[in-house]
Amino acid sequence: MHQVADPFTLVLTESAIRERVGELGALLTEDYSDHRPVVVGVLHGALWFVADLVRRVDVDLDVDFLLLNRFGEGGRIRIQTDTAIPLVDRDVILVEDIVDTGLSLTVLRRMIEERGARSVRSVALLDKVTRRIVDVPLEYRGFEVGDEFLIGYGLDQEGLYRNLRDIWAVLDLAIFRDDPELFRRSVFPGH
Ligand code: IMP
Ligand code: MG
Repeated sequence: MHQVADPFTLVLTESAIRERVGELGALLTEDYSDHRPVVVGVLHGALWFVADLVRRVDVDLDVDFLLLNRFGEGGRIRIQTDTAIPLVDRDVILVEDIVDTGLSLTVLRRMIEERGARSVRSVALLDKVTRRIVDVPLEYRGFEVGDEFLIGYGLDQEGLYRNLRDIWAVLDLAIFRDDPELFRRSVFPGH
């Protein structure tokens, strides 16, 4: 009988993510002692990563968030909800869930530099290197991933699946959209 391949596959387990987040936290702990950096998470995707990451950074720091909005043709990017903390003269650690084309990160870094931040560095849990359009600095990254669409641990598909503990790749978006129950049965125990 013809075997149909799974439309989705497990990419990173909760424990693999936890281990790597710990390593990134240790790097930041070394690099930011005595700086009181401000960690700025990009909502909504980075919320989960920020929450886990800052608990592995053993220095004094502030945490804030901003929300981006893409609009118009060509997907112009602007800040929809800004940080409450002023970034002037601060050492900013910008945290993204995933860097894809690099456009969001490029715009964000420029905005933060224009505000007179003392330094800006970026952290992303995931890096889709092969999809990059703009060459933007990424000082810390968790994992290099392929170009498949990913969900879980903050990453969503039309608002869903951010609450999964593991990260999954959706290999066949059409099947996945047609039968989301198939996926739910596999990832939500007891469903
Ligand atoms: P960029 O501006 O193209 O680098 O886009 C980065 C943003 O696109 C990320 O912050 C995510 O919100 C979104 N994104 C990119 N790839 C994925 C994916 O595989 N799953 C879910 N969201 C993604
Ligand atoms: Mg995002």
